[in-house]
Amino acid sequence: MAKWEGLLHQYKEFLPVNENTPMLSLMEGNTPLIPLVNISKKLGVNIHVKVEGANPTGSFKDRGMVMAVAKAKEEGSNTVICASTGNTSAAAAAYASRAGMKTIVVIPDGKIAMGKLAQAMMYGAEIVAIEGNFDEALAMVRNISGKSPITLVNSVNPYRIEGQKTAAFEVCDQLGQAPDVLAIPVGNAGNITAYWKGFKEYNEKFGTGLPRMHGFEAEGAAAIVQGAPIEQPETVATAIRIGNPASWAFAEAARDESNGKIDFVTDAEILEAYEMMTREEGIFAEPASNASIAGIIKHVKSGEIEQGANIVAVLTGNGLKDPQTAIAQIEKKPTVLPNDEEAVFNFIKGAVQA
Ligand code: F0G
Repeated sequence: MAKWEGLLHQYKEFLPVNENTPMLSLMEGNTPLIPLVNISKKLGVNIHVKVEGANPTGSFKDRGMVMAVAKAKEEGSNTVICASTGNTSAAAAAYASRAGMKTIVVIPDGKIAMGKLAQAMMYGAEIVAIEGNFDEALAMVRNISGKSPITLVNSVNPYRIEGQKTAAFEVCDQLGQAPDVLAIPVGNAGNITAYWKGFKEYNEKFGTGLPRMHGFEAEGAAAIVQGAPIEQPETVATAIRIGNPASWAFAEAARDESNGKIDFVTDAEILEAYEMMTREEGIFAEPASNASIAGIIKHVKSGEIEQGANIVAVLTGNGLKDPQTAIAQIEKKPTVLPNDEEAVFNFIKGAVQA
């Protein structure tokens, strides 16, 4: 296998990379595409998951951020800014550190999973937590970047979409062609926009075909499904707790051009998929990522995804990002016993029989 040197190197002919672009990399991309053996069988379809939690900061955001930060550096900027539900801030801070730049992040106070906050802090970002939601934070950083030399690296920055589209290239390379259906969580709607762009570009160049794009919002944050912004979005999947997606129109275009659908899944369905994926497949992705699995289950049941379909679900972030939700989800806690082998052995015998 050829040596992997990161996305800017691997896909430079598809990306805005020129001789002045710093070849920034933390070796992002090249993530595994894993078949779901048990859930596929149960549903009568053929599911693969694109494990974006295997990226350097544990989410798909690294794909867009390597491109956006490299371009910011190329253009002479020394500071990047973003609003975030967590993952964007971790990726921005990591790539800016690598590039010798500063990062400012604005987050909704108390609504960021612990792992993501730890990352942004460790990578050295300046973190502002507001008593507001993601949509309000995004409006703020858009204005601030507009009146200062600070570069905005949310997905309204077109370089983010360029970087993120590479995931669709990889899916086509890994499967040999596009799947019938691409199932993806939708928050700010940048990623569904990026995948659709990627599938179209690869199809034009290599004839790899086009999937139907099935996007899934959380029920309490399903602005696109409802057709109106949601002032106070709420969901256990904090990554997609977004009430006014910036790439709304692009998401609708991806849906319509691909003959797909944007739907919602409930928090209960997300948590059920979250547990099913860990228990039955050994794959631990964060709650928002499992909106794609919950959505597949919903659409197979409704007939909107046909029996035998080849489906790729995007698992956008690593399960370790959000330890609180994981621990809260499982009723069975570790058993505390005395430091005594017999007591431990007796307990194990009971557990094995159960
Ligand atoms: N899944 C995860 C784990 C995310 O972090 C996000 C977005 C999405 C799905 C939705 O992707 O916004 O492109 O539709 N997280 C952003 C953030 C908003 O700030 O980290 P989208």
